[in-house]
Amino acid sequence: MFFKWLKPYLPRGLYTRALIILILPVVSLQLLVSIVFIQRHFEGVTRQMTAAVAIELRYLRDVADAAPNRATAITDVAAIASPLELAVTWPPVVPQVGDDRLWSDFTGDTVAARLREGVPQIAQVSMADRSRVTVWVATAQGPLAVDVPRRRLSASNPHQLLVIMVVLGALMTTIAYLFLRNQLRPITRMAQAATDYGKGRITPYSPGGAVEVRAAGMAFLDMRQRLERQIQQRTMMLSGVSHDLRTPLTRLRLGLSLLDDAEAEPMIRDVDEMQRLLDSFLDYARSGVGDPLETVDPVGILTTLVADYARMDRPVTLAPSTGAGANVPLHALAIRRALDNLIGNALRYGHRAQVSAHVTDRAIRYVVEDDGPGIPPDQREEATRPFSRLDPARNQDAGSGVGLGLAIVADIARSHGGALRLSDSTDMGGLKAELVLAR
Ligand SMILES: Nc1ncnc2c1ncn2[C@@H]1O[C@H](COP(=O)(O)OP(=O)(O)OP(=O)(O)O)[C@@H](O)[C@H]1O
Ligand SMILES: [Mg+2]
Repeated sequence: MFFKWLKPYLPRGLYTRALIILILPVVSLQLLVSIVFIQRHFEGVTRQMTAAVAIELRYLRDVADAAPNRATAITDVAAIASPLELAVTWPPVVPQVGDDRLWSDFTGDTVAARLREGVPQIAQVSMADRSRVTVWVATAQGPLAVDVPRRRLSASNPHQLLVIMVVLGALMTTIAYLFLRNQLRPITRMAQAATDYGKGRITPYSPGGAVEVRAAGMAFLDMRQRLERQIQQRTMMLSGVSHDLRTPLTRLRLGLSLLDDAEAEPMIRDVDEMQRLLDSFLDYARSGVGDPLETVDPVGILTTLVADYARMDRPVTLAPSTGAGANVPLHALAIRRALDNLIGNALRYGHRAQVSAHVTDRAIRYVVEDDGPGIPPDQREEATRPFSRLDPARNQDAGSGVGLGLAIVADIARSHGGALRLSDSTDMGGLKAELVLAR
C-alpha cells in the first residue's frame, strides 16, 4: 500500500488511533484559521494603525525642519507632541541599539517597515519595551526621539483568541474522547471474551454498544454456543459408543474366561486390547472440555505427577523449573492427562524421561524430554493427528497404542490457547515435547 512505510509509526491501539482521528482535524482546522485569518487580519489592522502614526511623525518632522533654530524647534515640536500623546526628546546623537525587538513580537516587522515607508528620515526603531516604540527621526535640527505607545501601532495581540481556541479545542476533544470511549468499550469487551474463549474459558459477555458492534457481539455469542454444542455432541457420541460397547465386551470376556484356557487366552488378550482402545476413545472425547476450571500452581501439577511415577518406580526426573507458586485458572485434569500422555510416550519410546515446567506472566510451558529415537521433523505434524501411528516397525515391541496420545495433548493445548511443539532434545537425545499454554 501507498502508506505502508507509515505503518510502524502509527499507534496500534484502537483508543490512540481514534484519538488521532479525532484530534488531527481539530488541530489542523485551528492552525489553518490562525494562519490564514488571524495573521492576515492583524497585519492589516497593524498596517492601518502604523500609517496613521507615520503621518503624525511626518508632521513633527516637518515642524522641526521648518523651525529657524534648535530652541524654536524644541518648543514647537513639544507644543504639538503633547496633545498627540507623544513623548519627545532631543538626544545629541542616535544611540546605536539597532532595530531591536522581542522574538515574540509578531507584528514588529510590519510596524518598522511601515513607519520607514511613511517617514524615510527614520534612523532607528526600537521595540525592546513591549509597551512603547521609540523612533529616532533625523531632522534639520538634529535627531528627534519620539516615544509612541505600542497600542497605537498594532492591535492588542491575538494571544487571547489563540488561548480560547486551544482551551476550547482541548475541552471539545476531551468530551469527544469520553463519548468515543463509551463506544469503544463494547469492542474491547468482546475482544476480551473472544480471547478468553480461545484459552478455553467461557466468560460472561453480553453484547452492547452501537448496532454494528452489537451485531458482531451477537454473532460471536452464536458462534461460541454452536462450538460448545458441537464439542458436547462429539463427547456424547464418542462416550456413548464406548460406553455401550463396554457392556457386551465385559460379557464376552466373562464368557471367554469360562472356556478352555489355551484356546481362550489370545481372545481374552484381544478383548482387553479392545477395552483399552475404548478407554482411549473416551479420553480423546473428553480432552476438550468437561472438567471445570481450577486455580492451581502449574508447577505443582508436574511435581505431583513426577512423585506418582516415582512411586511406580518409573524413571522420570524433574529438571529445574521456574515460576513455582503461581496461581492460574486451568483445566487441571486435562493438563494432567496431557502430561501423562507425553511422559507415557517418553517412557514407551525411550527409557528415561526428564520433565520441567516454566511459568511466566504470559504463558505456561511444560517440557518433556526422553532418550528415545525422537521423531523426524517431517513426521511431527503427522504424529499429532488422531489415530496416526508412525513407522509400525519401530512401534512393534512398544505395545499397541491407538495413535491418539499426541492428538489429545494437541487438543488440550489448543483449548488453552496454546500449542504442542515437538523438537529434538539436546539434553537427552530423543524427542522434546513442549506443551505451551496461554495464561
Ligand atoms: N517420545 C517419542 N519418541 C519417539 N516417537 C514418538 C514419541 N512420542 C510419540 N512418538 C511417535 O508418534 C506416534 C503418535 O504418538 P501418540 O502418542 O499419538 O500415539 P501412540 O503413543 O502410538 O498411542 P497412544 O498414545 O494413543 O496409546 C507414535 O506412534 C510414535 O511413533
Ligand atoms: Mg502415546
